[in-house]
Amino acid sequence: MATAAPSARVDSSKLQDKVAIITGGASGIGEATALLFAEHGARAVVIADIQDEKGQQLAESIGKNRSTYIHCDVTDETQVKSLVESTVNLYGRLDVMFCNAGIFSSSIQNILDFDMAAYEKLFSVNVSGVVASLKHAARAMVEGGVSGSIICTASIAATAEGDRFTDYAMSKCAVLGLMRRASRQLAKHGIRVNCVSPSPIGTPMAIKALGVSNQEEAEKAFESSYRLKGVLKVKHVADAVLFLACQDSEFVTGHNLVVDGAYRN
Ligand SMILES: NC(=O)c1ccc[n+]([C@@H]2O[C@H](COP(=O)([O-])OP(=O)(O)OC[C@H]3O[C@@H](n4cnc5c(N)ncnc54)[C@H](O)[C@@H]3O)[C@@H](O)[C@H]2O)c1
Repeated sequence: MATAAPSARVDSSKLQDKVAIITGGASGIGEATALLFAEHGARAVVIADIQDEKGQQLAESIGKNRSTYIHCDVTDETQVKSLVESTVNLYGRLDVMFCNAGIFSSSIQNILDFDMAAYEKLFSVNVSGVVASLKHAARAMVEGGVSGSIICTASIAATAEGDRFTDYAMSKCAVLGLMRRASRQLAKHGIRVNCVSPSPIGTPMAIKALGVSNQEEAEKAFESSYRLKGVLKVKHVADAVLFLACQDSEFVTGHNLVVDGAYRN
């Protein structure tokens, strides 16, 4: 049987003509994904965040005609609705929504000392923010007749053993539950819904949580936990998101794609 010769060419057009929104797009995993989407031919990458300066700089670095920054606090459904509407008004459609904005626990959140106010604040971003983003993206896709792809950032905290950061783990379990239900409900519209679940990774979120001063120090703290050689980088997560966003995963929905280098808890 004849086999195809391996090609050295990198397909850099996996998102040709696609319009994407990335919430929490100004930093970390969102930022890396915005750059990768642009590299893969996306017609437009809309960066939605509350860090205006960083978001604007990133959009400018991608190019004024291919990227826009829109201030959007995902805890406010009106802002999320307006983000989606502005994107459709600007670019005519929405193909990919990456619901990625998130925050980490403000303390260990041991159940005996559980801080309800902190939990509610975290849930407003990590859960309500994802629900609103998924809802309005799906509505725009259904209305526009677009067979789109929606990806949500969960975490290995949702499925792995652990004894700290209770509210964060709960929030990511909720994201998995939402993704599974929504994937079933939206399949008849040709819309796919999946999650990406990274293990700890040296982004600004982790730098702050660990109380270290930079990415290198955060990565050093996680280094010995990966059974695979090396350290998890934002590019590894962005690659997984790209896979879920593009036609390479055209029959994948309701899936939680773990990107953890066989992480030891
Ligand atoms: N860093 C990790 O160890 C890790 C591991 C697994 C999953 N995650 C998840 O990855 C996602 C991205 O986090 P990251 O690690 O890139 O951290 P990050 O802090 O670099 O990025 C998070 C982004 O979300 C934005 N954001 C926060 N609140 C927002 C709000 N209300 N509205 C809009 N944007 C808001 C922030 O401004 C920031 O730009 C999060 O959902 C996080 O829970 C992170």
